Amino acid sequence: MERHTQIPSESRFLIQKMSLSNVRLSNKSGRSICRTTARLSSHARLRVEASALVEPGSLVLVAGATGGVGQLVTAKLIERGYNVRALSRGSKGGMFGSVPNLEVVKADFRTEATIPSGLMDGVDAVCCCTGTTAFPSSRWQGDNGPRETDLIATSNLIKKTPQNVKRFIYVTSAGVERQTQLPWVILNAFGVLKYKRESEILLEGSGLNYTIFRPGRLTDGPYTSYDLNTLLKATAGDRKAVEVALTDRFSSETSRISVAEAVVQSLLIESTVGKKIAMGNVQGEGPGSDTQKWQAIFQAAKA
Ligand SMILES: NC(=O)c1ccc[n+]([C@@H]2O[C@H](COP(=O)([O-])OP(=O)(O)OC[C@H]3O[C@@H](n4cnc5c(N)ncnc54)[C@H](OP(=O)(O)O)[C@@H]3O)[C@@H](O)[C@H]2O)c1
Repeated sequence: MERHTQIPSESRFLIQKMSLSNVRLSNKSGRSICRTTARLSSHARLRVEASALVEPGSLVLVAGATGGVGQLVTAKLIERGYNVRALSRGSKGGMFGSVPNLEVVKADFRTEATIPSGLMDGVDAVCCCTGTTAFPSSRWQGDNGPRETDLIATSNLIKKTPQNVKRFIYVTSAGVERQTQLPWVILNAFGVLKYKRESEILLEGSGLNYTIFRPGRLTDGPYTSYDLNTLLKATAGDRKAVEVALTDRFSSETSRISVAEAVVQSLLIESTVGKKIAMGNVQGEGPGSDTQKWQAIFQAAKA
């Protein structure tokens, strides 16, 4: 069935089936808004979006805000006039100091009990940049390996996100759909790709307006991973152009700066809704923070 485009001010509605040719549009509290004679299949439940745009001034919750990509996402959002609720499990949240329009909240999504009530109040969008090392490291201490981080914590975040949140942007990884192929099978030795893919699937079926970014091995700081790129302080250098695809087919490295910019830009680009976007950096000029250039990049994305 076609999506409705001319609707009253509320952004989301449930269409409740009354009969095959008589349906009632109601808001989330169940109040009738209007009736229509559109035909729906049984159990039809249609979300109608007025807008998936999340503009400056909105409140964005950043999970993994203390991570490499998360720090850049947080900084870019603040710089562009968003309000940010930055999540961290522990004391690392102190890295932000006192910044206007930035609220740091301690939250660990591994268990329901450690998720503060009211965390989602007023949130317009969620950017999830959480993760851990693919191989055993000190980051796994305290029972926080890939399963806990990339599956349990992320799944709980997705499930806790109310349906009236306009966007959910999730950073995963290249290789999530190539887990049995080299070199991904090695990277997946402890399940990091498997768990990320399981969380992607949950998000895809959540009813939320999702966008998934799948970067390759990360370059540029903040250097938070325990790998060669961190040891070498690898940068994108003259590979500032961004390539994107709608299938998991890249092996190119990706700059944390490009990933963070893509996350922030996608809030303003509705065509990214419902997409899983593989991304990498190649030689050439980058789009910088130009929304029109990012729009063109995303529109050109092919399977
Ligand atoms: N490194 C690479 O080459 C590479 C390549 C492709 C994709 N990726 C993926 O890209 C994403 C961003 O990478 P990154 O290097 O920026 O990540 P990162 O620096 O490792 O940051 C991960 C963040 O996740 C948070 N976190 C960890 N466990 C958590 C939990 N149980 N609940 C809530 N938050 C938790 C941490 O915050 P606190 O400790 O403050 O809670 C940390 O700030 C990750 O998903 C990563 O796996 C990385």
